[in-house]
Amino acid sequence: MALTVAAGELVVVLGANGSGKSTLLRCIVRLTEPTSGSIRILGSDFARLPARQLREARRRVAMIFQTANLVRRRSALENVATGALGRHRDLATALGRLPRAELLRAGALLERVGLLHLAQRRADTLSGGEAQRVAIARGLAQQPRLLLADEPVASLDPEAAQDVLVLLSRLAVDDGLGVLCVLHQPELALWHAHRIAGLRHGSVLFDAPPAEVTSSMLSMLYRGDTD
Ligand SMILES: Nc1ncnc2c1ncn2[C@@H]1O[C@H](COP(=O)(O)OP(=O)(O)OP(=O)(O)O)[C@@H](O)[C@H]1O
Ligand SMILES: [Mg+2]
Repeated sequence: MALTVAAGELVVVLGANGSGKSTLLRCIVRLTEPTSGSIRILGSDFARLPARQLREARRRVAMIFQTANLVRRRSALENVATGALGRHRDLATALGRLPRAELLRAGALLERVGLLHLAQRRADTLSGGEAQRVAIARGLAQQPRLLLADEPVASLDPEAAQDVLVLLSRLAVDDGLGVLCVLHQPELALWHAHRIAGLRHGSVLFDAPPAEVTSSMLSMLYRGDTD
């Protein structure tokens, strides 16, 4: 079954360990080469794009992970601005100097994720929840059309996890971003997702709005291999 993420929707991927969730995301950004099938993003197949267009297309896809992976010694603001580096190819930015306009834009993005007051804080003093929001803002600095998130709330407390999901769904709805997010918490998916895709053995077992996802559908994802 094909999986589609439209602009403006948050699609949550659920599935047991090893069901292929991370592989799916890695194939989308071509960190892993798919052995079969095809992936189309914004109408083009990444596998067929020439190098220059591939670089531009990749910029339109931002990825966030379980841990924020910020540059520890840099401020929250500078970390967000580094997300914009892919849009600048000149020497100054290659040396790590960030254009002033990007720092201003980074401030606006921090405000977007509710952390403008922490703009000057060193990244290694942020809590896990704060750091993850900074990482999301850094992803947004790429000006993506698609945001991929691989277990972005796995190391957050329940409240911080809710906050991040609220943020992701708002980014989808307000900015028209497509968001594809892997979670291990079905209840968060049922609460926040526009659609839930269930993965098992690398295949999409179901793809449905939360209201149509039953507990037996969920248990099919997590039960052992007796069949
Ligand atoms: N490069 C690779 N070569 C061969 N097998 C791989 C490769 N990457 C992942 N796999 C295998 O593919 C399967 C899916 O892995 P994947 O990391 O996508 O699972 P996942 O659904 O993200 O699991 P988890 O919930 O534990 O993160 C696993 O059995 C894994 O061992
Ligand atoms: Mg994984």
